[in-house]
Amino acid sequence: MKIFVDTAKIEEIRKVKEWGILDGVTTNPTLLSQTGKPWKEAALEILNEVPDLPVSLEVLATDFEGMVKEAKELAKMGDNVVIKIPFTVDGIKAVQALAAEQIPTNVTLVFSPMQALIAAKAGATFVSPFVGRIDDISYDGISVLEEIIQIYAAYGFETEVIAASIRHVDHVRKCALLGVDIATIPFKVIEQMFKHPLTDIGLAKFLEDAKKANISIL
Ligand code: E4P
Repeated sequence: MKIFVDTAKIEEIRKVKEWGILDGVTTNPTLLSQTGKPWKEAALEILNEVPDLPVSLEVLATDFEGMVKEAKELAKMGDNVVIKIPFTVDGIKAVQALAAEQIPTNVTLVFSPMQALIAAKAGATFVSPFVGRIDDISYDGISVLEEIIQIYAAYGFETEVIAASIRHVDHVRKCALLGVDIATIPFKVIEQMFKHPLTDIGLAKFLEDAKKANISIL
């Protein structure tokens, strides 16, 4: 499973990159607004930080022509730009137009298997079902994800599934068990994935015993 970080904060992207486990970055207008920087400056900083990894930047237009126009501007910002397009009728038309020009897309705000089926048929590079926001309305985000994976496998779609709106480590575990292509994970959840109290307790005991026995390696 590839790990993308779901943030526009450069310090967070840098840390996950340093940890050696970063496969890509997803942003959205909300995340970019939280950087406190002009959006273009923040976006360029991210693109330059990870020039070999896909970085999703979202359009703001909601009509077909506007989305395609914005997508082409965004695509000029770097070879690693992936255009995030909201799942709407105009969005799906834009995905097809961009696919015809080999511009990669990530269809966002996907909440059902049927939306994911349409996105794949339109030629989306990635599709982002929002697991946590589905849970928020008392439905099961992971089961929606499971159905999308099953449908894509049945038809051999090449669109990669990005499990999005991940809220906690158990979401990540369930995504991995389903064999999802990618999970885009908030920084704090990636940090939590490293942690286990028994690791801390075990390490403290090993070090204490080594000290008692005067063991040193160098
Ligand atoms: C996906 O690409 C979105 O940026 C993100 O996962 C949305 O998550 P949220 O529901 O925590 O805002």
